[in-house]
Amino acid sequence: MTRQRDFAAVILAAGKGTRMKSDVHKVLHPIAGRAMLDHLLGVLDTLSPARKVVVVGAGREQVAGLVEARGGDIVVQEQQLGTAHAVRMAEPALGGFAGDVLILYGDTPLIEAETMAHMLDRLHAPDAPALVVVGFRPADPMQYGRILAAPDGTIEKMVEYKDATPEERAVNLCNSGMMAARAEDLFPLLARVGNDNAAGEYYLPDVVMLAAGDGRKSAVIEAEPWEMAGVNSRAELALVEAEWQRRRRLRAMADGVTLVAPDTVWFAHDTQIGRDTVIEPNVVFGPGVKLGEGVRIRAFSHVEGAIVAAGAEIGPYARLRPGAEIGERARVGNFVEVKKAKLGPGAKANHLTYLGDAEIGANANIGAGTITCNYDGFFKYRTVIGEGAFIGSNSALVAPVTIGAGALVAAGSVVTKDVAADAIAIARGEQVEKPGRARRFRDFMTERKKKS
Ligand code: UD1
Ligand code: CA
Repeated sequence: MTRQRDFAAVILAAGKGTRMKSDVHKVLHPIAGRAMLDHLLGVLDTLSPARKVVVVGAGREQVAGLVEARGGDIVVQEQQLGTAHAVRMAEPALGGFAGDVLILYGDTPLIEAETMAHMLDRLHAPDAPALVVVGFRPADPMQYGRILAAPDGTIEKMVEYKDATPEERAVNLCNSGMMAARAEDLFPLLARVGNDNAAGEYYLPDVVMLAAGDGRKSAVIEAEPWEMAGVNSRAELALVEAEWQRRRRLRAMADGVTLVAPDTVWFAHDTQIGRDTVIEPNVVFGPGVKLGEGVRIRAFSHVEGAIVAAGAEIGPYARLRPGAEIGERARVGNFVEVKKAKLGPGAKANHLTYLGDAEIGANANIGAGTITCNYDGFFKYRTVIGEGAFIGSNSALVAPVTIGAGALVAAGSVVTKDVAADAIAIARGEQVEKPGRARRFRDFMTERKKKS
């Protein structure tokens, strides 16, 4: 969609976040493994803003890297004198920017691009409101500021909870705080906002009343309450995470993925999943996972930084760690851990195995209890297993080591030397048998016990 004018985003994040009880800046706390602020900036970037300014108080150095990486600017609000004051802090950084301004909150990361676009579009509707405010109707309106509006969305009054009468508090249309305005309207209005109110703060919603005094109308648009959910405490962080997960599960299912028990599957912000993949209950995804089509992730598996090709089956109780690449129709079974290792198509590691820094050829069979000994306490080494090789149970493959294609390693081997293709390697103590010896031992001990 082409917009009439450029827009700049001002993201407020100067609040102290006291209730988080954290040394980490509130907007850096993760949702689905990604900082809240990064979620917001990512969604924002889909609309190509001309400028992004993040207003911070303490902890500038913590957020600087992320904001700069996303091409935004940081401004500091030394004292948190209120939301209107915070937005004003962005004016010098915008340096006479002449487009629209979108005001967002760094601790309200679930807002969708459609809602942002709607805010900007509403600003340029024929009635040209001075301000567009996003309202919502939460189940519990708590202490949110209230919006008194006509049925057509024209705002009659905005009032903070602390300053509201009982009748005003009874209104359930709440102020999300998010707003859009033209820069040429916004900054002159902000300069006129005072702090003569119950909190002694410069209230951003006051710009609506000031515009009304000038004969300019403002409009409210409504968003879903989940989109406006803010994070002020760890409990709210968990609620926002739950909401993000709920929506991600719905999207996965809409995309053709079966979730047997959706509420028990936890996605990361970047999980990619092909059609007809089935995810059984209690599966957790860390970042960097890409699942092909028709994959099956069985119950209680943990998958992170892994690529799984079509038709592969993982779990139950499997762990894929970063750098795991599982080929088509390959099989990683219970209590198998795979790290920086590639399993070729049709390869199998069905039980109780560790495969790290390894390459396993197509259709190789890795027996139960096989361990690639990849680390000597100082360096990591690679294990290479050829196509169709068979590794007997409880083998230790001491890397660096190569097992040739079609080779067979006897169970219980400790393999320290390369094995040629199609050879059998037996690297364990030879079996000794002493005929009748068990019986003699038993008789002797029985006698001894009687005498004692
Ligand atoms: C504000 C609104 C209220 C709305 C609520 C929604 C005002 C006066 N009130 O409440 O109507 O229902 O948000 O959550 O605007 N911030 C700064 N600098 C400041 C103060 C705040 O950057 O000086 C930032 C905070 O980091 C936060 C956001 O602004 O991201 C909102 O601040 P917060 O104190 O949570 O909101 P309230 O003022 O209580
Ligand atoms: Ca808040």
